[in-house]
Amino acid sequence: MVALMQVEIREIVDEALDIKSLLLAGPAGARLTGASPGAHIDVVIAPGIVRQYSLWNGPEDEGVFRIAVKREAQSRGGSQRVHDEFAPGRVIEISEARNHFPLDDEAPHAVLIAGGIGITPVLSMARHLHARGRSFELHYFTRSVEHTAFYARIDTGGLRNFTRFHHGLEGAALHDRLDGILRGRREGAHLYLCGPSPFMTLVRETASPAWPDATVHFEYFGAAPQASADSQGDERTFTVELAKSGRTVQVEPGCTTLDALRRAGVEIESSCEQGVCGTCLVHVLEGVPDHRDLFLTDDERAANETMLPCVSRACSATIKLDL
Ligand code: FES
Repeated sequence: MVALMQVEIREIVDEALDIKSLLLAGPAGARLTGASPGAHIDVVIAPGIVRQYSLWNGPEDEGVFRIAVKREAQSRGGSQRVHDEFAPGRVIEISEARNHFPLDDEAPHAVLIAGGIGITPVLSMARHLHARGRSFELHYFTRSVEHTAFYARIDTGGLRNFTRFHHGLEGAALHDRLDGILRGRREGAHLYLCGPSPFMTLVRETASPAWPDATVHFEYFGAAPQASADSQGDERTFTVELAKSGRTVQVEPGCTTLDALRRAGVEIESSCEQGVCGTCLVHVLEGVPDHRDLFLTDDERAANETMLPCVSRACSATIKLDL
């Protein structure tokens, strides 16, 4: 678990139907740092309930963190508690900001695509690029204006001329709209996207092959760990060999690889524990991982040189890790 610090909730604002934004400040005016575009923090919502939220900070939000939380119908207690129990003045624990979704602000052009609450890191990127006078366009997909967080802020602010809202699109209409946006990639342009898993998959499929992998950057949220095609969701016992100590660790069904390693005393840093952030990445020396994450690219999965032990397991009876 990463180190935690205490912050105070300074302000809570209703941004859209079931979406609230929170302004977090350090105790006694202490400055919060590291809010680069694409960064996120862990928030301890209650004992044992930790969630990751992207920052939507702009360059003028110095020393504070801004997050937004959507009340999820399928909430396992996280977003519901934020909406029902968090209030201004309350002190909560968060991690430092980390960034697995960095922005290349030197690229000649950036296409930013957000689906729903996926706007948060993308809005931070747009605010940053706008402040620097860089070339970009923001495409923001939601069900309706009422579901569009930050609508007034974007529509009446400096981002308006760089933003297109796309409301209520589904199926072929959504595909056609994305195709129109992604067709004719400008030389050197990069694509950044964040949103629900099916939306992200559609954007990535539509972008391929005109947008090379190295120019497509994405961050999933609210992702459920994936069962791979090989595993079909099976959880078999397998053995992890630790290359540095020569020890072996059994991973039983119902226990993650990460938990089994920790119980054996192996220290591995983690954050999301949902296969999304990449923090727990380890190198594979022998054996075949059963990739269940949403972080690695298809090429990285095929190479079988790394895995995310918070969700991934092994297809082979034994897997040797560089630990
Ligand atoms: S802790 Fe985030 S991918 Fe494993």
